[in-house]
This record gives sequence, structure tokens and C-alpha cells, in this order.
Amino acid sequence: MLDAKFIIDPLDLRVEEIHDLCLLADKMQENPQDYQDACHGKLLATLFYEPSTRTRLSFESAMYRLGGNVIGFSDPTASSVAKGESLADTTRTVAAYADIMVMRHPKEGAPKLASFYSSIPVINAGDGGHQHPTQTLTDLYTIYKVFGRISHLKIAICGDLKFGRTVHSLIQAIARYEGIELILVSPQQLQIPDYLLAYMVQNKIKYKQIEDLESVIHEVDVLYMTRIQKERFVLQQDYEKLKDSYILDVEKMKQAKKDMIIMHPLPRVNEIATQVDADPRAMYFIQAQNGMFIRMALILKLLEGNASSSITLGNATVQDCDNPNCIGKIEQVPAQMLQKETGKLCCSYCGAIEIG
Ligand code: NCD
Repeated sequence: MLDAKFIIDPLDLRVEEIHDLCLLADKMQENPQDYQDACHGKLLATLFYEPSTRTRLSFESAMYRLGGNVIGFSDPTASSVAKGESLADTTRTVAAYADIMVMRHPKEGAPKLASFYSSIPVINAGDGGHQHPTQTLTDLYTIYKVFGRISHLKIAICGDLKFGRTVHSLIQAIARYEGIELILVSPQQLQIPDYLLAYMVQNKIKYKQIEDLESVIHEVDVLYMTRIQKERFVLQQDYEKLKDSYILDVEKMKQAKKDMIIMHPLPRVNEIATQVDADPRAMYFIQAQNGMFIRMALILKLLEGNASSSITLGNATVQDCDNPNCIGKIEQVPAQMLQKETGKLCCSYCGAIEIG
């Protein structure tokens, strides 16, 4: 059983819980027949307000493989959202039909808002450029399977570190393991947000920020490539300037260690040449498959749980958040501003913005 009922950011799962989920995912992969009725009679709702291939289909196939059923939408224009329904109302309605809900939304903090209104577990399947905790589970599970551990590794994360939500969640989650060294490779304009830098400093994580991938490729155990997130740029000309910043090809892979692995949350655009796919170190399609098994484990554990919907509304200390992409900009949100451990005021929904 898990402590949390709502998986909104990667820290909602303890390191020990992630380890147990990995063990369970292994068992599910080895003996699928033992779990084929584990969620019989249960309904998973998928609320996808943004495009998705792997995340939605892996959640859906995970639920079907557990003997459960799935409802939901992948195109919000075909739901009452198009009539102007609030996220709060959609959440309350879906919670009355289903047993567990998975939500992807372009606004940062949307699944957190949903958790205030939901009587059933809510899983964040990606909120804007903020967080993506189940991709992180997929990533950690893949690292665990390849190396037999999630510690003492040198990991380069390359690409769009500013808008890449998979990157944000991965950094926060992996920073908790021993002996992790992070090399953050990006153009200056796409470096990680300040709140993550503060997090790494506070947790004494060994890291460096660089622009040149080739200078480090020979020394890393994991190279985590990411797509430049076109849809998050305000000015498309800025995207055009940066879109080809990194292209991993066969030539560059000659410098890499024999036992390193290449990971990518996918979709790939052009940051990994397709010729690299044949390299045994290319792990990204296996990573996508691992995502289904670890999501099976997560669904089962959340449905077993009886944690109450214990997020309390508290006193709303509403203060304007500067982030135009915050859910608080389009919907009334309870208890918006909270003091974070870093000593700075951050929006408790989109996280990134320090106020004052
Ligand atoms: C990622 C996402 O949606 O954030 N994809 C995924 O869920 N596997 C990465 C991306 O879109 O670049």
C-alpha cells in the first residue's frame, strides 16, 4: 500500500515505495497471468487535455492487463470542457464514475487542483512544462533493470531542460539516491528552472550545467535525451533557433562507454538519429515498454490503498502567481501560495515561480 493517494509530483512516492513498485512490476512482467484479474470490476478514467501516445496507451493497456476497464477522453473538445466546464466540476463528475483517474493537462498544477476535488486517486500524467511523475517511474524502473541499482551513476540529461517536465520529475526523484552525479546539458536559454536548482543545492546534489554534449559523452552511464518542447515556446522563432541544438548520431556514440545506455521519454523528433536505434545501448523502446509494467504496479497499489482524501483546503492565501501557464490563471484554486523549504515563496500549484 502506498502512503499517498494522489501522485502529483515525484516526491509523492518514497524511495522504498518506488523500490517495491519495481519489484512488483518485475513480477507482473514475469507472470502476467497472476495479475490478469487483479483489478476486475475497477474503472480507470483517462482525462487527456493534451496529446499523448505512450502515457495514455500504457495506462490503458496496463488497466486492461489487470482485468479492469477504461473510460475517458483524449480530445477535450469532444467533452463538456468545450462547453466551458471547470476542471473542478469535471473532476467531481469523473470521480463519481471511476475508481482511479489519470490526467494530462497543458496548465501547470491542473492535476493538483483535481486532487482537491477528487474522492478517488489522481495520477498526474504531465502538467504543462512542470512535472510528469509516472514517466519518472518508467525511467527509474529502466535504470534499475539495466544496472540493478539506482545509485552511483553519472547521468547526463540533455536537451530542453527548461520546459521538459520529464526532466524536472527525474531530477527531483533521482536526487534522493546515493552517489548520483548529474550533468545537465542544454543551451543557456533552456536551462532548468530556478526551483530545481534550489532543490539540488539544498539536497547537496553533485551537478554541473554545460552546453557541449560531446565533452561528456565518454564518461556517463546514462544519457537521457529529450525533445526541444516546441509547444511551450511563446515565440516560434526562438524554437527554430534551438530545435537542432543536439543530435545524437552513430559518430558521437563511438565516444560513449560500452555499457552506457541512451534513454528518451519519447516522442523523438530529430535529437537521436534513427541509425542509433540499432545500437544495443539504445534503451528508449524498452523504456516505453517498462512504462506499462510499472504503471500496472502503480494502479494496483493505488487501488489497494485506503488513504483518505486527506488534502485539506486550509486557508486560501491567494496571491497572484506570475506564471501565465499556471492553472490558477484560469480557475479558482484553493490554498495557492505556500512557503517552500527553500525559504522562497513558490506557487504551490505550478511550483516554479518564486514570489518576492
Ligand atoms: C513526454 C511528455 O509528454 O512530457 N512524453 C511522454 O510522456 N513519454 C516527453 C515529450 O513530450 O517530449
